[in-house]
Amino acid sequence: MVTIQADNEGVNIVFSNLLSNAVKYNHEGGKVDIIIDRDNGDAVIKVIDTGIGISGKDQEVLFDDFVRIKNEKTRNISGSGLGLSIVKKIVELYHGLIIVESTVGEGSTFIVTIPVKLVPD
Ligand SMILES: Nc1ncnc2c1ncn2[C@@H]1O[C@H](COP(=O)(O)OP(=O)(O)OP(=O)(O)O)[C@@H](O)[C@H]1O
Ligand SMILES: [Mg+2]
Repeated sequence: MVTIQADNEGVNIVFSNLLSNAVKYNHEGGKVDIIIDRDNGDAVIKVIDTGIGISGKDQEVLFDDFVRIKNEKTRNISGSGLGLSIVKKIVELYHGLIIVESTVGEGSTFIVTIPVKLVPD
């Protein structure tokens, strides 16, 4: 079990944004996996999708305000470009980190690492 001490609203925003992106930028019939683990003092949350993927260059700006990646695959998908920048700000409030690993055409994995409040097992 992984226990973190966090505000309900904040956790809700983080999960709903990452999960809605994983579905929104996926292929028809694609898959989304969520893995929650503990790595020493950290809770590690991975949201893994089989979607359109994000190029290395786009990954550099993805967490900035109002960034929407414009290409043929995203043309008909709407959004404000604020979701990930809000997620990043919330994660950092908890002294955590968010990173993305992705391959264009194969999918993306968003990894959130948040220090846990250590509780006895
Ligand atoms: N799982 C993903 N796979 C591929 N591209 C993604 C994924 N998540 C985000 N992106 C890209 O990053 C951009 C920024 O994402 P973000 O969540 O900040 O904004 P949005 O989804 O466009 O709008 P909002 O979240 O405000 O509805 C998206 O427009 C999309 O191009
Ligand atoms: Mg979004």
